[in-house]
Amino acid sequence: MTSVEQLKPMLAAVRGKQQKRPPIWIMRQAGRYLPEYRIIRLKAKGFLDLCYNPDLATEVTLQPLKRFNLDAAILFSDILVIPDALGQQVRFEEGIGPVLNPISQDDIEKLDVDRVLGHLSCVLETVGRVREALDDTKTLIGFCGSPWTVATYMIGGRGSPDQAVTRLFALQFPDVFDRLIDKLVEASICYLVAQLHAGADVVQLFESWALNLDEDMFAKVVVEPNKRIVAGVRAQISDAAIIGFPRGAGGLLSGYLKETKVNALGLDYALPIDFANKLFPSDIPVQGNLDPLRLVIGGDQMIARAEKIIEGFSNRPHIFNLGHGIVPQTPVAHVEQLIRYVKG
Ligand code: CP3
Repeated sequence: MTSVEQLKPMLAAVRGKQQKRPPIWIMRQAGRYLPEYRIIRLKAKGFLDLCYNPDLATEVTLQPLKRFNLDAAILFSDILVIPDALGQQVRFEEGIGPVLNPISQDDIEKLDVDRVLGHLSCVLETVGRVREALDDTKTLIGFCGSPWTVATYMIGGRGSPDQAVTRLFALQFPDVFDRLIDKLVEASICYLVAQLHAGADVVQLFESWALNLDEDMFAKVVVEPNKRIVAGVRAQISDAAIIGFPRGAGGLLSGYLKETKVNALGLDYALPIDFANKLFPSDIPVQGNLDPLRLVIGGDQMIARAEKIIEGFSNRPHIFNLGHGIVPQTPVAHVEQLIRYVKG
């Protein structure tokens, strides 16, 4: 344990050091439930303009830390800056979310990994500025989307409940699909390494669409690419701290953990606590896993479940979080109440 880690409870927990009370951050902690975010959001033209503006993105990243006693900041950006950087334009439409033009086999060949760091230099500048502004006890989390999840948007063109378009594509055109995954693996490695060099303490791999896959497909499109990213980052930064969040992976999580060798696992809210404790060795840190809708309701419905989660994971390193992103209708007062409770 270095002195830096002793100062940063969240980073120490990711590295396997159990804390007296679990450190806490909140998935999507900068966002529309905060009035101060909505004001800044109006200043930027589009959502990506906000992500690419270091002044505004730094301010938005720090907003939740100014309001709440959180242990970590997460870079304000999006998983879809990678397709945008590779040359497949991304736009965010009100009421729909991300929209991408359908990608052809030819387009996949043309995606250019060499463009990524240049295109995202503004995001890396934000990482550096946030690092400068944070005090020594706060952990800075960088991130990217995992290749399968990013590919579902690149091939499907938008979010979908079952990712059927992309699952079909992967089965019909395995060679083209592999080319796309290879490019995403390569882009993710250089982007994460650059974030760590710019000042991130930890990086998280968001595999938001790890559900809906049979075990063979899961091994091919989730486990293998995530494993290659972890190995690729650690080939350049040997002690890189990495959290994997394969949402909805259920019983496939133990294979994911063993193969990828991430330091810590993010758990979605549907994963039972006892099941998790049987599945993972007791030195493996876990992060999660309150249902974000309990945070909308607040009060006993929230606190009783938070208590069970803290109690349930009290014999291993645990980082308190939601089991998926905070939703816009969440009252700020409930976030305060939750953090007060978790901090004891
Ligand atoms: O956690 C944070 O505060 C950091 C910022 C962050 C955002 N997106 C900001 C954002 C992070 C880590 C993400 C990750 C992300 N983006 C994921 C993985 C996590 C998850 O939720 O499963 C995914 C799948 C995306 C893609 C994406 N971006 C979608 C589907 C949407 C629309 C959904 C919505 O809430 O509207 C976005 C837009 C987005 N990304 C917003 C924010 C704050 C809202 C857009 C706005 O402010 O106009």
